[in-house]
Amino acid sequence: MNADGRTRLNQTPEWTALAKHREELADTHLRDLFAADPARGTGYTLRVGDLYIDYSKHLVTDETLRLLRELAAATDVFGLRDAMFRGEKINVTENRAVLHTALRAPRDAVIEVDGENVVPAVHAVLDRMSDFADRVRSGEWTGHTGKRIKNVINIGIGGSDLGPAMAYEVLRSFTDRALTVRFVSNVDGADLHEATRDLDPAETLFIIASKTFTTIETITNATSARQWLLAALGDEAAVAKHFVALSTNAEKVAEFGIDTANMFEFWDWVGGRYSYDSAIGLSLMIAIGPDRFREMLDGFRIVDDHFRTAPAEANVPLLLGLLGIWYGSFHDAQSHAVLPYSHYLSKFTAYLQQLDMESNGKSVARDGRPVEWQTGPVVWGTPGTNGQHAYYQLIHQGTKLIPADFIGFAEPVAELSEELKAQHDLLMANFFAQTQALAFGKTAEEVRAEGVPEEQVAHRTFHGDHPTTTILARKLTPSVLGQLIALYEHKVFVQGAVWNIDSFDQWGVELGKVLAKRVEPALTEGADVPGLDASTKALVAAYRELRGR
Ligand code: F6P
Repeated sequence: MNADGRTRLNQTPEWTALAKHREELADTHLRDLFAADPARGTGYTLRVGDLYIDYSKHLVTDETLRLLRELAAATDVFGLRDAMFRGEKINVTENRAVLHTALRAPRDAVIEVDGENVVPAVHAVLDRMSDFADRVRSGEWTGHTGKRIKNVINIGIGGSDLGPAMAYEVLRSFTDRALTVRFVSNVDGADLHEATRDLDPAETLFIIASKTFTTIETITNATSARQWLLAALGDEAAVAKHFVALSTNAEKVAEFGIDTANMFEFWDWVGGRYSYDSAIGLSLMIAIGPDRFREMLDGFRIVDDHFRTAPAEANVPLLLGLLGIWYGSFHDAQSHAVLPYSHYLSKFTAYLQQLDMESNGKSVARDGRPVEWQTGPVVWGTPGTNGQHAYYQLIHQGTKLIPADFIGFAEPVAELSEELKAQHDLLMANFFAQTQALAFGKTAEEVRAEGVPEEQVAHRTFHGDHPTTTILARKLTPSVLGQLIALYEHKVFVQGAVWNIDSFDQWGVELGKVLAKRVEPALTEGADVPGLDASTKALVAAYRELRGR
């Protein structure tokens, strides 16, 4: 029993029923499931917005799906969902509401936190961002010397970097190509160096993105960026035209020396990893323009509405979340691959790593007791077809079960030449071939029938039975990007709700931060830092020697 009176997840009858069902299905191959149901390829599909979701290549039957939905009902996933949308403080360890959905709510919506409707403030900031973005894009907002802004550099890390950096890549073909937009996150000085080395400070705008405005990497890089600017322009007054801030912390922004008139605000009920459709998206908005940005928000909202209202049988985030639980807890899968067949989605999986792993990488339930079930998977992947020539071997023939999402589009982006557009069918042929090969494999009989020598048959046999979801859309647009991100946000939510963990805190990143601060004087001054273990002490000594200190 949980401290809150709920039965522990792995002791519920729904959990036990799934475990038993898993045993019953142990010898059923995907080939059997397709043979038994000729309509499976169309029957096991759903649509949400512009997304066509095929889940037929999963190791599930109608009974599996029914049992999984019962688990969701028993853990009151929809109850917690409604509490989130209502603005209740479901981030229990930080006592905060979780309202990234309010960032894309329509102007006339009413969503209250502590009795105050937050929607007008959301739209006021969006309007200010739009105005600023238009001024930069049109050249009306100039640098200190009167030169037009040609370069925009976002300095931030984690949720204050990954979202806009990912979305900028995804929507590159919608960006103003006259602008150079770069993202600096790493405290390794090489990052800022490479981002600025070929730029004219007089034409460069820095966007300092930090929810807390205390993150050491961001403040350090922002301080160095200011020095770089002032070394060239030689006038403190230049900061006002070349630095803006995105933050919840006006006091720290002012302390840093950025006029709060140049600050775009967001709120503590927006988690860092859920924030790129808030003010944190300013660099993206400058790149693609306010209209495209709003189209993206509309896309988010399509999936928000679907998640909020679709019945369990047709609810895509619910389905995807439950499938992940099926593999993690009942098939011992440790990881989940996200494999986009679009070059523009090159940073998509890196973004999802924070979204998923920072949210659900927890081992303590909401009541503070250790969990006795698997929680979030390792999320990984890179765009196809590159992955096919690197790690797909392991997915096809290795010893691990790796469920995967395949994301592809019917149309190439408009900007490509006719010749390059023609390559799209080859890309997508690979996309379809891979999920087919993963699901159905190649039997020893099939290999033998090809005349393969007997000693090679085992090596050239593909067991198959590897589960995949296929997500297909016509075109990669701002709206479709919003739909995809909201889909994953809510999938992560569903899993956290079933696992009874707080998906919205991130205490696990704190210890390393504290220790880094403590270790730094040992590196720089050779200070004797109390509490250093023997290994770290020796490593610090080796480092100092190598640096000639
Ligand atoms: O890595 C921890 C973290 O707190 C993330 O959750 C967050 O996105 C990131 O640091 C950056 O934080 P901030 O936006 O406050 O600089």
